[in-house]
Amino acid sequence: MDETLLTVNNLRTEFQSGARTVHAVNGVSFILKKGEILGIVGESGCGKSATCRSVIQLLPSGGRITGGEILFKGIDLTEKGEKAMRDIRGREIAMIFQEPMNTLNPVTTIREQLTETMPGKLNREKKREEAARLLRMVGIPSPEERLRQYPHQFSGGMRQRAMIAIALASKPELLIADEPTTALDVTVQQQIIRLLLDLRGTLGMAMIFITHDLGAASELCDRIAVMYAGKIVEQAPADVLFRDPMHPYTRGLIQSVPNLEDRGKRLKSIPGHTPDLSAEIIGCPFEPRCPLASEQCRRAYPEVFHLTADHYYTCWNAGKPDGRDTV
Ligand SMILES: Nc1ncnc2c1ncn2[C@@H]1O[C@H](COP(=O)(O)OP(=O)(O)O)[C@@H](O)[C@H]1O
Ligand SMILES: [Mg+2]
Repeated sequence: MDETLLTVNNLRTEFQSGARTVHAVNGVSFILKKGEILGIVGESGCGKSATCRSVIQLLPSGGRITGGEILFKGIDLTEKGEKAMRDIRGREIAMIFQEPMNTLNPVTTIREQLTETMPGKLNREKKREEAARLLRMVGIPSPEERLRQYPHQFSGGMRQRAMIAIALASKPELLIADEPTTALDVTVQQQIIRLLLDLRGTLGMAMIFITHDLGAASELCDRIAVMYAGKIVEQAPADVLFRDPMHPYTRGLIQSVPNLEDRGKRLKSIPGHTPDLSAEIIGCPFEPRCPLASEQCRRAYPEVFHLTADHYYTCWNAGKPDGRDTV
């Protein structure tokens, strides 16, 4: 049986901003199986959101897909029109964002927003029951009362939960979560991550979880893709990635995750910053920041090296000592 839900092949997405063309997604490929949670991690500006917004074709103005294919259950979404995509977005693929206030409608009740995408054949009463059940499922107390309320009457964490409930109302097969815990405090973050894990367990939903927080990704994801400058630079099962990171960028990200013992100490972050994606980049875009950089890196983008069937990276010098491992 084919368990593949989503196949993204050599996706390219650009933003036109004045005279500049920003190459936000530069040939991204990945596969997502049914019920699987894929993490996409990387610093801000690496193209994580552009990748996921391309999948559901909700790009901000100026953004467009310029190449590749997005096969959802075998059907290429890049060939679908806006109306067909609206149907898919409403029912089969749902997305949640960092800031729920931008997604929730301030002038309609939580109940209306929950019942909007429910099947038309359900009557009003059934929809209300289902809406209450969803709120209960995401851990919102007194759901009957909450249904009558508006988003501004919810706290940050509760709003995030409400947004998840709304996303789940259509029973999507794929949930795309773009930094859903970034704006929340650590305790609420933990609760939301636990909730997403529970939901995968009970609903068998696949998920793409975008984050710049490697700690959160390690708790939630089965597999992790590390993005840099619009490309995936390393991909592996989550435990393998943390145990055996190969790309110097992945290593840098892992070293900048705070350990409990290190709280309060200065974090090691990767020196330098992400490249301008409107400029032409020859060679490896991480080269200026890379402790392993060599002449070859300045000349040519690295090939894809497979360590195992499900662990690959794109780096000419990966695995060579970088001087940081020995301190
Ligand atoms: N609406 C836009 N117009 C122009 N450039 C954009 C727009 N949105 C994103 N970009 C650029 O595309 C690149 C990738 O952005 P994004 O996908 O948002 O990164 P991430 O989600 O990893 O932080 C960045 O260089 C960003 O500046
Ligand atoms: Mg983003």
